[in-house]
Amino acid sequence: MLDSGVGGLTVVKEIFKQLPQEKIVYFGDTAHFPYGPRPQSQVRSFVYDIIDFLLTQEIKMIIVACNSAAAAGLEYYKERVNVPLLGVIEPAVRMALQHTRTKKIGVIGTTGTIESGAYQQAFDRLGGSDIQLFSQACPLFVLIVENGLTGSPEARRVAEEYLRPLKDAGIDTLILGCTHYPLMSDVIQDVMGPGVKLISSAEETAREAREVLQGSGLLNLEERNAPRHRFFVSGEAKPFADMAAHLMGRKIDAYQVIFPNQRL
Ligand code: DGL
Repeated sequence: MLDSGVGGLTVVKEIFKQLPQEKIVYFGDTAHFPYGPRPQSQVRSFVYDIIDFLLTQEIKMIIVACNSAAAAGLEYYKERVNVPLLGVIEPAVRMALQHTRTKKIGVIGTTGTIESGAYQQAFDRLGGSDIQLFSQACPLFVLIVENGLTGSPEARRVAEEYLRPLKDAGIDTLILGCTHYPLMSDVIQDVMGPGVKLISSAEETAREAREVLQGSGLLNLEERNAPRHRFFVSGEAKPFADMAAHLMGRKIDAYQVIFPNQRL
């Protein structure tokens, strides 16, 4: 699994729950975090390096557990690997299509994700041509989460500002199109009101991972007491391990990997 930092751990958590017998190799590109404001071609070049690294780890599937990375070019990544590769966008879109009644759906994400149009393309591909999609970039949400400010009055004010156009549009389903946003779902739900269903791709991505592994005969059916997961980061290991312990409620060991041609 790969992400720009700690955000993808929301997907890891769900994999632990749904596929407890599988072993995770996670790469958080903390030296290059955040991906959201970066040009797509740069994000892709970071992801290529990570994929090449993951392929040295005897993996059987790759999950791009980062919306900004997936939006920058999932199809390009697929061309480079001969193992199944999943993103987080299509699973969320499928789930949103199941939930909406009014056919008015909102999506929030980083600037890169929203500007890429990747969600609109996924709706078009998956048969949601009668869907009205309302998109909104919420770049400050990532900073709010990273700084532990989700419960603050500022978070509420920023959320009200970003979400107003989506509320006014009358959406009934809102995709949290960034791995950090489930961590501030309380304030988002509060601002949107109880009539709006929030979709987090983590749960659906894990379900899809199970389906793909099962379909290709790769699902691990052996019971293991505690699979040894491996967490790698491009930046310092300790802040990542601390944040991960906080987010996941369990201690993890993280190791720093610096690629020979690492660019900042
Ligand atoms: N994992 C990233 C995403 O889902 C978090 C934000 C970022 O790197 O800018 O978009």
